[in-house]
Amino acid sequence: MLTHADDWNRYYADAARPEWDMDRATPVLAEVLDLALPQGLRPGGELAVPGCGYGHDAAELAARGFAVTGIDFAPFAIEGARARYGDRATWMQADWFSPDLGPWDAIFDHTCFVAMDPPRRPAYVAACADHLHSGGLWMAVLFHDVSGRPGPPHAVSPGEMRALAEPRFDVLHLGPALRSHPRRAGREFLLVARRKLGTGD
Ligand SMILES: C[S@@+](CC[C@H](N)C(=O)[O-])C[C@H]1O[C@@H](n2cnc3c(N)ncnc32)[C@H](O)[C@@H]1O
Repeated sequence: MLTHADDWNRYYADAARPEWDMDRATPVLAEVLDLALPQGLRPGGELAVPGCGYGHDAAELAARGFAVTGIDFAPFAIEGARARYGDRATWMQADWFSPDLGPWDAIFDHTCFVAMDPPRRPAYVAACADHLHSGGLWMAVLFHDVSGRPGPPHAVSPGEMRALAEPRFDVLHLGPALRSHPRRAGREFLLVARRKLGTGD
């Protein structure tokens, strides 16, 4: 079971290449930005990538002009991100549940939410809200189908995702990913949600 930082770190240290690692940014990153920019995602804004792993998405977002902080609680992942991408982004070894992170303008979440044990989901969503400015955007790439695996990743349905998000977020977009990597085609969906104004500021 991958839950604690030590478990994830051991996995990184032992794996020649983690099975989720695509060695490049997810192709749906561009699709997510196309959805979020008309919703007020500020080009050049400050953006967090929780569970950044080896940093591919964070580096791609930085190349697109955002001021990016890639966060992972596994030291091996953060060292790998820094080795691959240097100072293109800020790399931070931290637990996403730490109360003292952020606030950021936006979050790009690719396989961090789905890596959580399902009982931790409400606390994870609360952390996303707490780490955003009021009105900030949470963008997430999610799996509704993990092909019978025990997880992680853990599948979540769009309906469950809406119910989890709505106490703290207005859901702006919830729909299938159209530009998935072939290995994930038909299994991913996308969320863009705005932190509700004034909740927790
Ligand atoms: C499935 S991997 C995905 C990595 C990267 N997003 C990618 O797609 O290549 C999930 C990542 O989340 C990190 N992670 C899990 N729980 C975390 C937490 N509470 N705080 C920070 N990072 C966490 C793990 O160390 C791991 O790097």
